[in-house]
Amino acid sequence: MDKNNLVVVPLHKHQEYLSQCCTLINAEWKRSETARLRSLQSSSDFLPVNLILIQNKTVIGHLKLSKIPSKGHACFVESVVIDRQFRGQGYGSILMKEAEKHCQDNLHLKTIYLSTKGQELFYEKLGYAKCDSINIYGGFVAANYATNSVTTTPRHPVLPPLLNNNIIFPQVLNQKTYMIKYLNNNHCI
Ligand code: ACO
Repeated sequence: MDKNNLVVVPLHKHQEYLSQCCTLINAEWKRSETARLRSLQSSSDFLPVNLILIQNKTVIGHLKLSKIPSKGHACFVESVVIDRQFRGQGYGSILMKEAEKHCQDNLHLKTIYLSTKGQELFYEKLGYAKCDSINIYGGFVAANYATNSVTTTPRHPVLPPLLNNNIIFPQVLNQKTYMIKYLNNNHCI
């Protein structure tokens, strides 16, 4: 891997990469270009912020750090993506570690959360551990049936899941793994 000319920067400070970034993310998670651009244009000096990994003026990676309304010193990392032709070469790890550095040095955050379905090992190698589901929207969050945990008190009674072998709940099928990392001062890229 050529680590030369590799840089991680906030997208809003390099608007010239908006279109490339949009193409990269849409190649993984298809969405209308208008909606995608609108979302990317909300990147700011605090949260949310979109960070991009650039090599030789080409966007090869992206992630977004978002607010968690109930957790002031934490953020939620999402839409982590590395260009297909660059995967498996350490770029994803570099992007994540730079994002952690940004969280500590510029945003003064203490904790990073994320959710994933299938990339658990990638995050475990970066020091993330499985945790209970968290509410990233500020309202009611459904129970995580896999762990039987509820992170906030619902405003109305919640019916327990029917434990009938013939019924498969979509929540269970779509179960995401929530993960957490407590940040410390060890930056090693
Ligand atoms: N399963 C198991 N191990 C993995 C996986 C995986 N899916 N992906 C990477 N790893 C391992 C690598 O083998 C490597 O291990 P090593 O250090 O022992 O050699 C280590 O994790 C680091 O891998 P990188 O090369 O740094 O990872 P990469 O550059 O390929 O980026 C990423 C990983 C971002 C998941 C990339 O594969 C990708 O863009 N995937 C498609 C989009 C996606 O699923 N993004 C995650 C969504 S979840 C979220 O956004 C919070």
